[in-house]
Amino acid sequence: MFSLLTIFPILFTLSAATPLADLLGPKSNAGYNIQAVLIAGSNEYYNYRHQADVCHAYQVLRNHGVPAENIIVMMYDDIANDPENPFPGKIFNAPNGSDVYAGVSKDYTGEEVTPQNFLGVLKGDKALAAKGKKVLTSGPNDHVFIYFADHGGTGLIGFPSDTLSSDDLNKALVYMHDNKLYGKLTFYMEACESGSMFENILPDNINIYATTAANSEESSYGCYCDDPKIGTCLGDEYSVAWLEDSDSHDLTKETLKQQFKDVVKHTPSSHPQEFGQKSLASLEVSQFQGEKAGKIHSPRRHPRSSVNSRDIPLVMLKRKIKRANDAAEASVHAKKLYTMIAGRRFLESGIKKIISQLCSNGYCSDAQQVMSTRRPLVNHSTYSKVAKKFQSSCLNLGIHTHGMKFMYAFANLVESNNFNESTLTRFLEDLERACNNHIADHGFKAIV
Ligand SMILES: *[C@@H]1O[C@H](CO)[C@@H](O)[C@H](O)[C@H]1NC(C)=O
Ligand SMILES: *[C@@H]1O[C@H](CO)[C@@H](O)[C@H](O)[C@H]1NC(C)=O
Ligand SMILES: *[C@@H]1O[C@H](CO)[C@@H](O)[C@H](O)[C@H]1NC(C)=O
Repeated sequence: MFSLLTIFPILFTLSAATPLADLLGPKSNAGYNIQAVLIAGSNEYYNYRHQADVCHAYQVLRNHGVPAENIIVMMYDDIANDPENPFPGKIFNAPNGSDVYAGVSKDYTGEEVTPQNFLGVLKGDKALAAKGKKVLTSGPNDHVFIYFADHGGTGLIGFPSDTLSSDDLNKALVYMHDNKLYGKLTFYMEACESGSMFENILPDNINIYATTAANSEESSYGCYCDDPKIGTCLGDEYSVAWLEDSDSHDLTKETLKQQFKDVVKHTPSSHPQEFGQKSLASLEVSQFQGEKAGKIHSPRRHPRSSVNSRDIPLVMLKRKIKRANDAAEASVHAKKLYTMIAGRRFLESGIKKIISQLCSNGYCSDAQQVMSTRRPLVNHSTYSKVAKKFQSSCLNLGIHTHGMKFMYAFANLVESNNFNESTLTRFLEDLERACNNHIADHGFKAIV
């Protein structure tokens, strides 16, 4: 048994080197600790920006005093040492910025960056923990901050070789609430159509406040795309907006609402949205990103030169062709560009054929109309089943992310058909047949 007498000398010895408050974690006197999960869902060099955003987020949290052991990072980790990276071992999130890769803890890398592991991290999965992997250990008073950056589409976000549906994500968040795995939770999400991950599904009474880079129908945008040496975008508009805002403020004096307003102002190409319990937005940012004043950087805010996320691979190849030193080099890039364009055309026409076949099966009357309208996604659970069937029998959207752009058409069918269990089963069979006819058997590796 410890008596006070035996404990006191220990405390004194420790506190000589370390203030007691640091040993107990930040803000423990306010009754909560901050834990964070940062995820980049992509891999490959042309997606440089997502891992750059996430590394920068790690630096922001550390700089504001969140202890390293309270931050869980999931990133493929193939950018810093990619042969195309002109600065080996370094990643930048702004032109002439500092290296954001230095010192980042990498808890899940490569093939470990999966939706299953992400959800396991959120739920504090004991099997993962038993394998020595970090998972959230937060309790009913703690503040959890989650930041995600990658591609997205209607009710879907990407992972290196898979996708996560709005239904599965929100079920995990509700599970966290029901099992008291947080007191308050803030979720920042960068992805195309990211509004559709929370719209009509995230409850507004479970102490979760979420903001997204885009509404449910539009792309988000890459930025800092003009560095000729690095040759791809260094960041994303919405992400860089909040990261640079946090870099340049004492976060104890800024509310989440003020940060959101600043983000809207500096995200000119899309419409960032707020979801969930908006009353949480009156809390200080420091309650989720750390309260230490840290080193306050002035915001960089160079001209952003934004590019629609979905077009970045094409735009970058076009620039490489222009900059090529000789005809041979230009033709290598041109070949890649034509293959990519052909892949995208194949995919788009394949989707149209699938929708036409489903119309002839009785699920719609006019394929053209299905392709040219957008119904709001309400039935996330049914849509999630449809998206999974598409993923398994048509195209892996985690790898071929461009396919996410067309998933609204399937949300339209879900919303217009009002399936019951038996009609849904039949629809999934018909979808698989249509996929086999028009996409799966024609496997086209060039679709990105
Ligand atoms: C980066 O730094 C170089 C050299 O200091 C300078 O020439 C260049 O204009 C800077 N680029 C930007 C985008 O600030
Ligand atoms: C499902 O819907 C179909 C078509 O609307 C109907 O014929 C069928 O009886 C329904 N099945 C159930 C179990 O409700
Ligand atoms: C979603 O569709 C399923 C059938 O596929 C139905 O059972 C469920 O009630 C619907 N949910 C909502 C919220 O409309």
